[in-house]
Amino acid sequence: MRIILTLILMIILALAGLFVFINSGFYNVAASKPHTKFTQWILSTAMEKSVKHHAKGIKPPPPSDDSIIQSGFDHYNEMCVGCHGKPGLSVSELDNGFNPEPPDLIEEMKEGEWSAEELFWITKNGIKMSAMPAFGHNHSEEEIWTIVAFLEQLPKISPEEYKAMEDAAEGKRRKHNHEHGQEHEHNH
Ligand code: HEC
Repeated sequence: MRIILTLILMIILALAGLFVFINSGFYNVAASKPHTKFTQWILSTAMEKSVKHHAKGIKPPPPSDDSIIQSGFDHYNEMCVGCHGKPGLSVSELDNGFNPEPPDLIEEMKEGEWSAEELFWITKNGIKMSAMPAFGHNHSEEEIWTIVAFLEQLPKISPEEYKAMEDAAEGKRRKHNHEHGQEHEHNH
């Protein structure tokens, strides 16, 4: 009986201590201050295990063709490069000051760190307490699968090839704007 009471008292004291600590403002939330090794371990382990658990049961679509990869490139180039870089522009060159720092997806894809289902889940749902947004918020599942298809090609794409894809996309956009502009002129 005594032991149980002592244990309960200790738990109450520990919770009270935690409450005081949280309210004291002593914890430094500055992104510029790196996490301790222990916090780092908690966060990265929880993230990895959570993604692997939640991505179970997701069914990838059939293998993608060139038009799907092209569409994935358009999304990646518009929405991911600013944080994750691209062939010829590494995350460390971007130097955004995020904590955790967005990983270099070219390296991650080379290492085969994530399956297609896991990449889909991360892109759709984002990652709490990090800068990684949930793109499922305003993108369809089809669109997200195109991004996954592009990510799978990423390690094979040289900086020159990526640049060529960017130029082609820019050319298409200009052509579109031009046509759209002309349409406008007709209408008015
Ligand atoms: C505003 C910055 C930002 C943008 C934009 C962004 N990400 Fe992220 N992303 C992050 C951060 C930060 C992490 C690290 C999260 C962590 O480690 O907990 C991350 C992690 C990831 C991961 C997990 C990789 C790993 O090993 O940690 C994938 C996959 C990913 N992002 C894909 C994408 C894709 C695809 C896009 C574009 C559709 C994108 N991200 C756009 C910031 C961003």
